[in-house]
Order: sequence, then C-alpha cells, then structure tokens
Amino acid sequence: MSARIISGTEIASQIREEIGKEVAEMKARHDIEPGLVTIIVGKNPASVSYVTAKQKTAKELGFYSVQEDMPEDVSEKALLDMIDRYNNDPKIHGILVQLPLPGHINETKVIYSLNPDKDVDGFHPVNVGRLMIGEARFYPCTPYGIQQMLMRSNIKIDGAEVVVVGRSNIVGKPIAMMLVQKSVGANATVTMCHTGTRDLAFHTKRADILIVAAGRPKAITADMVKEGVVVIDVGVNRIGMTPEGKAKLCGDVDFDALKDKASAITPVPGGVGPMTITMLMLNTVKAAKSVIGV
Ligand code: GUN
Repeated sequence: MSARIISGTEIASQIREEIGKEVAEMKARHDIEPGLVTIIVGKNPASVSYVTAKQKTAKELGFYSVQEDMPEDVSEKALLDMIDRYNNDPKIHGILVQLPLPGHINETKVIYSLNPDKDVDGFHPVNVGRLMIGEARFYPCTPYGIQQMLMRSNIKIDGAEVVVVGRSNIVGKPIAMMLVQKSVGANATVTMCHTGTRDLAFHTKRADILIVAAGRPKAITADMVKEGVVVIDVGVNRIGMTPEGKAKLCGDVDFDALKDKASAITPVPGGVGPMTITMLMLNTVKAAKSVIGV
C-alpha cells in the first residue's frame, strides 16, 4: 500500500481562505480587525522562524499585528508588565508568548498572567480546564490543526483506536483530551504513551490513528505500526542544513518506511506545521468575534 499524503499546506490554505473572508466581513460590518501580538524572548532560531511565520500569516490575512522582540536577559517583571499592557489593549484580541522562555523566567507564571479571553494558544489553566470538560473556548493550535486535518481528510475518528505518543501540555495531553470527548470529530478510544511506557510498540501497533509528538527523530519505525494506520507526525527535528542554507527537517516517524504501510500520513515539512499557524489565526478571529458578540 502507498499512503495518501495528508497535506497540511493544502488544508491550511483552504482554512486561510475561509479566514480571509471572515476578516473582510468583520471589517466591512463591524469596522474591526483581529489583533494579534506575538512576543518572543531571545533569539532561539526555531522560535524566531515560528514567530516570523506567524506574523507573516497574520499580515497576509489582514490582521492588526504587532511583533515584540525582547532581549534574552529581559526581566520576568518587564515581560509580565508587557503582557498586562496587551491584556488591557482593546486593539489586541490574541496574545502569543512564544515558548520556551529562558530559564530565569517562570513559564507557568507567564501563562497564568494572560487574560484567558486573549489566550489564543489555549494554555491558560482556565482554557485547559474548559477543554477537559468539553466547554473549550480556544483549542491549542497544534491539536486543533491535527483534528482539522483528520476531519477534512474524512478519516473516521468516531470509535477509532487513537494512540498518542508524547504527553506535553502543548500537544500530547490536549489532543488526547480533544479526541476522547463525546462530540463531532472525536469520540475515539485514546491511549497515551510516553517515556515511561513499558512496551511502546505493543500500543502503537494497535493504533488506527497514530499521533506522534515524541520529540525524537524517526522514533517510530515500520515494525511498530499495523497495515493501514493513519499517521500524524508532529515532530520537527533539525538534522542539518540544506545546500541553500535552510534547516533540514525530519519528523518523529520514519516517513520513508511508513509510507508503504500506512493508509495516510502527514509529511515533514508541510504537514502539521502549517496547520498550527493557521489555527492560531482562527483562534484570534474567534477572540475578536467574541468581543463584538458574533
Ligand atoms: N512553542 C512550540 N509550540 C508552541 C505553540 O504552539 N505556542 C507557543 N506559544 N509556543 C510554542
């Protein structure tokens, strides 16, 4: 079997078109532009490239967008003060603080300081709790993108055996919680695996849908999956440079080996990555719409 490639680039572009129309309508009817601020501390190359892409997309979609670059040694207080300013800025509907933060800044404290109504990452405990009880306001962007990719590719989630590898607060935990809900695009039986899992292959071989956010290049090999599995690869591992000087990327699954066994698979790059950025835009539109009550 040769797997169908689930193109995040294509699905993201469909969703961006939908967002573009919504933004135009918001401007025409309510004279409001979705406002997004992205805050980055330091110059971590991966973070810089993510934030640059987020800003570029926001601008292309007609958002009011602001980029805040803070030095690596900025104090925690200065960062919290900046967040407080944007919490109270009516032109800003979404605040994104790119993670990870330098060690001297308490990440939890920063996340707690966000106005939950502007927390377009969905990381604030109020939003995490709402997600858990099936009352989500903002789905975290990567899990939201994964769910949309599955739904828009007509993959049956209802009743499926979903195995998630990875238990981060950004991907593993929220995607598991989303797909287990009794709702459309969910209602799956979900197993979570992590570094403490005794026999990883035992679990991954049972998956109808395998979602891998392990943070290790090619951690999932062909012998660890069953024929016909749907594979969502969240990994972005930098494994060198291309001759053009760009970062060479690979995922957390061995794509070349799995593509002959899976029924559908996401590539890296061009899979989950473009979806994450797009879902951030969708969350920002949602935040802006709630301000005008639509
Ligand atoms: N770092 C890696 N992924 C993310 C994300 O989705 N949001 C933020 N804020 N930081 C990240």
